[in-house]
Amino acid sequence: MAIPARPGCYEFFAGGGMAGLGLERFERLFANDLDPMKIAAFEANHGAGSIRRADVWDLTPTDLPGHAALIWASPPCQDVSLAGHRVGLDGARSGAFWGFWRLIEGLVAEERAPSVVVIENVMGLLSSNGGEDFRAIGRAMVEAGYRWGALELDAADWTPQSRPRLFIVAARDPLDGVADLAKGHGLSPRIRAAHAALSRDVSASWRWWSLPTPPRRNVDLSAILEPDDLVDWLPPATQEALLALLSPLHRRRLEAARTASLAGRRQVAAGYRRVRIEQGGKIQRLELRFDGLAGCLRTAAGGSSRQFIVVCDQGELRARRLSPREAARLMGLPDDWVLPRGETAAMKLLGDGVAVPVVRALSEGLLEPLLGIAARRVA
Ligand SMILES: C[S@@+](CC[C@H](N)C(=O)[O-])C[C@H]1O[C@@H](n2cnc3c(N)ncnc32)[C@H](O)[C@@H]1O
Repeated sequence: MAIPARPGCYEFFAGGGMAGLGLERFERLFANDLDPMKIAAFEANHGAGSIRRADVWDLTPTDLPGHAALIWASPPCQDVSLAGHRVGLDGARSGAFWGFWRLIEGLVAEERAPSVVVIENVMGLLSSNGGEDFRAIGRAMVEAGYRWGALELDAADWTPQSRPRLFIVAARDPLDGVADLAKGHGLSPRIRAAHAALSRDVSASWRWWSLPTPPRRNVDLSAILEPDDLVDWLPPATQEALLALLSPLHRRRLEAARTASLAGRRQVAAGYRRVRIEQGGKIQRLELRFDGLAGCLRTAAGGSSRQFIVVCDQGELRARRLSPREAARLMGLPDDWVLPRGETAAMKLLGDGVAVPVVRALSEGLLEPLLGIAARRVA
């Protein structure tokens, strides 16, 4: 198929539409999600009617307009147990991935196969079910006529959030002009180990795709925070109770940061509460990091999924929750991006999302070259 200047793209499991924001070079022909909150957020940012509210299992290829050169899918992470759940078109519904993949198979049968398919997921997909889930996806890609490879990309290389994620990329021949070298950015030890465990028939179609090394990130956590006077700090008693959860090691780190701040160097940490086993019993701990990064935004239910910010300024300590707008910045979203009104909904949307700068880097460094689109960005 001749690739138009702005090739078409479908976005499955689109959530708030963060993948699409990074795929600026593509024209979105279709997007779907199931969750009314996600649909509302997507429409608030992309316009009414821009996304179809549908279970992927309810879609057929006739619902998919035109011919997409690229299909992006971010299936739900809790769906990582995929192998053994494969069902035929008439079978019971299980595993949203397979509901999606049968659409790819339908498009291939109709000679509307996308040239490139991307699956984004948590790193756990490499090892879930003893690695069989990853192998099952690879096998499905090979059976549908694709070459495939995978990258581990951490959002921390582009934005101050630690967020390693798996990107499985399938592409149809020809693959002119894209290097197949077992080196490059994204080929982590975990990817190599998963590749080593592939059977020969599936690994024969493997391609060592990677990205150019990204430029050094020049923004750290403190740069994305709101001004101190615009945020709600925890009341003293709540702050004291929170800091009482620090382990001796983290308490020493905080004390060192407080001392450094006395010399005029403001120190910022991000932290989560986590349940740890100590002396045979469960104990809740606050774990802080002072490396200029936030921890991975999460979607787990309950208070422990909220991240805290602790600031040491001239020897004074203050703590608060990370705000939804700050979390949006950690995902690489612009400040005019419309968030759901409720904090819980906003944090769920963001925690489920894909970091926009990572999608952009993947698009420019691999997807566009795979499609034979010349590099475009100048500034
Ligand atoms: C990991 S999130 C992807 C978020 C998206 N990448 C973003 O940037 O916001 C997975 C999404 O799949 C949706 N989902 C789960 N099961 C689904 C199904 N059977 N059909 C359609 N969407 C589904 C969820 O509502 C959720 O928004």
